[in-house]
Amino acid sequence: METKVIDVDPLNIEEEKIKEAAQAIKEDKTVVFPTETVYGLGANGLSENAVRKIFEAKGRPYDNPLILHVSNVRSFLEYTYISYALLEKIERLLPGPITFVLKKREVVPDIVTAGKDTLAIRMPAHPVALKLIEYAEVPIAAPSANISGKPSPTMSEHVLKDMLGKVDYIIIGGKVEFGVESTIIDLTQGKIPIILRPGPIPPEKLKEIFGDIIIPDFVYGKIEPDYIKSPGMKYRHYAPNTPVILVEHDDANTMVKKVLEEVKSYNNPLVLCLKEHVGYYKDHNINFDTIGSESNYYEFAVKLFEMLRKYDEKVDAMIIEGIEDKGIGIAVMNRLRKAAYHIL
Ligand code: TXA
Ligand code: MG
Repeated sequence: METKVIDVDPLNIEEEKIKEAAQAIKEDKTVVFPTETVYGLGANGLSENAVRKIFEAKGRPYDNPLILHVSNVRSFLEYTYISYALLEKIERLLPGPITFVLKKREVVPDIVTAGKDTLAIRMPAHPVALKLIEYAEVPIAAPSANISGKPSPTMSEHVLKDMLGKVDYIIIGGKVEFGVESTIIDLTQGKIPIILRPGPIPPEKLKEIFGDIIIPDFVYGKIEPDYIKSPGMKYRHYAPNTPVILVEHDDANTMVKKVLEEVKSYNNPLVLCLKEHVGYYKDHNINFDTIGSESNYYEFAVKLFEMLRKYDEKVDAMIIEGIEDKGIGIAVMNRLRKAAYHIL
């Protein structure tokens, strides 16, 4: 299939370009677009025919539901059952990198929610995403725009590699802001929200708004979930073809010692280390690159999938230094533990 690629400058959007892609959404076509988290692969979320094309392009199992992307707060009332009191709370996070699981209304086709009676709904903050949804005049169902199981796309070259020839349109809008997928919270299980997937909005922020928040153990990515509320959790995720070896965060000496020991097991390994540790590796004749620093976990998050893709199949192992489970670090470590072949 022929893919039309549209280049957009997010800081100076040419409306005509977005209108063309929005028209394609109206015609049940597929459009890849940037969001502030990762690129999404979208189609008309009210059309079963259009949504089926998303599953086909990604090779995604039909029992893994999609997120419905909307461009205004009113849409939450249109597609879900939500009280005004709750809407007032979540409004404080909109638009932004967070998805809410709520009771679904009839208008949303079953294919979007994989037959479940709940809907994952999100209002992204990226100006291109918001405009696209607005002009399409329908909500856009969209998973991350990677081939199923692979790291999510955070840069133009990622979407071109994974999606060219598989979708009708690709909107290129540069590098994303966060680099990990939205935080997902379930608001359907009693009064206290439950985190289903950690993301850019950290638990502390959610506590401020909701008073309390449940963080199940699987959120850290350490154990297999027994609470399969998010069907996507069943599948192996984010994994490049080259094995990832994750070194859990610890004091510098302990981490570096583990890395140097592990390096010996491979012919052509790459170490992805914290900036603060460069000094430990540079005299060891070791192939290394940096992946953020102790002082800025946001930088680590935005480089994570980029690095996993950059070195995939170029080395025979990626040995990665982990960070602490705090703030966006929880999301980073969740993705890394899921991608890891070994954890040290
Ligand atoms: O940042 C993001 O959320 C990106 C951008 C494109 O918006 N999207 C994204 O979509 O990460 P996807 O499909 O890769 O991940 C959505 C996750 C899946 O794990 C899915 O199982 C879960 O959301 N999900 C969808 N509907 C659900 C529901 N009704 N209940 C629980 N989990 C749900
Ligand atoms: Mg995904």
